Amino acid sequence: MAEQKKLLRALAGETQDVPPIWMMRQAGRYLPEYRATRAQAGDFLSLCYNPELAAEVTLQPIRRYGFDAAILFADILLIPQALGADLWFVTGEGPRLSTITSEADFAKLGPVSDIHETLNPIYETVRILSRELPSETTLIGFAGAPWTVATYMIAGRGTPDQGPAHALREENTALFEALLARITEATIEYLSMQIDAGAEVVKIFDSWAGSLKGEAFAKYALEPCRQITAALKERYPHIPVIGFPREAGDKYVGFAKATGIDCVALDNSVDPEWAAANVQVDGCVQGNLASRHMVTGGQDLIDETRRIVAAFKNGPHIFNLGHGITPDADPDNVQLMIDTVRNG
Ligand code: CP3
Repeated sequence: MAEQKKLLRALAGETQDVPPIWMMRQAGRYLPEYRATRAQAGDFLSLCYNPELAAEVTLQPIRRYGFDAAILFADILLIPQALGADLWFVTGEGPRLSTITSEADFAKLGPVSDIHETLNPIYETVRILSRELPSETTLIGFAGAPWTVATYMIAGRGTPDQGPAHALREENTALFEALLARITEATIEYLSMQIDAGAEVVKIFDSWAGSLKGEAFAKYALEPCRQITAALKERYPHIPVIGFPREAGDKYVGFAKATGIDCVALDNSVDPEWAAANVQVDGCVQGNLASRHMVTGGQDLIDETRRIVAAFKNGPHIFNLGHGITPDADPDNVQLMIDTVRNG
C-alpha cells in the first residue's frame, strides 16, 4: 500500500519531522495566474460555478508550490445562495446578500433538499480535482460554520462586529435559532456531497466565532460544529474534520474534544507555545503564522516560521497561516515560508 498522504497522517495524530503545509486562500489574487483565470471567468461567482476554471485555480498553487493539500475553490456564501438568498460581490468592498431580519424573510428561503440544484457545479469541481491532483496531495472540502454564515445572511454583508446578527439573536431568538438550524442541516448535506465527490477532509470555517462570548459561544459556535461533525462521522467515520473557530482565544482549549473534530485550526492571536501546551495536548492543530509575513517577508518571516514549527514539533501539526493570505502578498514570500518549514 502506498504510504499515506502527509496531511492525512497529521490528522490521524502522527507527529512528523516536517509538518505538512498548505495555506488558506492559497488560490487567490496574490497569484498572477489566478488573476488571469479570474478575468477569463468574469466575476468571482462565475469562477466558483465554472468547474473547469475552479479546478484550474485550485491546482495553480499546487503546481507552483507543491503544497500538501488543495482546498476546493468555492465560497462559504454559496450555501445562502443555494437556500434562495440573493448574492453578489461588489468589487473592492465584498459580498452583498438579501437580508433576513423577519419571519417573512426567513419564509422565502427554500428547503435544504433544493440546495444541490445550485451546488452541483461545485461537486463537479471536486470530481475533477480528485482525478487531477497529484497522488500525494490531499483534497480539502469546506463550508462556513452556521454562525458565520448567519452573520452575512442577517446583515446582508460583512460587518466589523456582527452587530445585526447579535441583535437578532437577542431580540428574536426563535427566528435566529431557526436560521441556524436551516444552515446546519444544509451544511451537513453540502459537505456530504463534497465527500461523495472525492473530498478527503472537510474544514468548517467559523471566522466570527470570536465575537460569541460565554454561553453564546457554547450554543452557537461549539454546538453547531458538534452537530455537523457528529452527522458526518456517522456517515463517513474515516473522513477527518478540521474546525476553525477563529479568535476563540481560551475557548480553543477543549474545543476538539467537545465537538468531535480531528484538528483545531488556530488564528495568529494565540502564542504557539501556549497552544502546544493547551490545545495540541488533545490532538492535531493547524496554524498559525500571521498573514502579514506574506507581505513583509525577510528575517521576521523566517524567525516566526521556525518558532511555530519548533513549538508544535512534539505533536501532530499542519503548518498554515492564521487567516487567509491577502491580495498584496508577494508570491516569493510564500516560497520562503515553505522552504523554511521543509528545510529548517
Ligand atoms: O482558501 C481557499 O483558497 C478556498 C476558497 C475560499 C474562498 N473563500 C475564496 C474566495 C474559502 C475557503 C473562502 C472562505 C470564506 N469566504 C470565508 C471564511 C474564511 C475567512 O476568510 O474568514 C469568508 C468569511 C468568506 C466570505 C467572503 N468571500 C468575503 C468576505 C469575500 C470578500 C473579501 C475579499 O477577499 O475580497 C470573499 C471573496 C473571496 N472568496 C475571494 C476568494 C479567492 C476573493 C474573490 C476575488 O477573486 O475577487
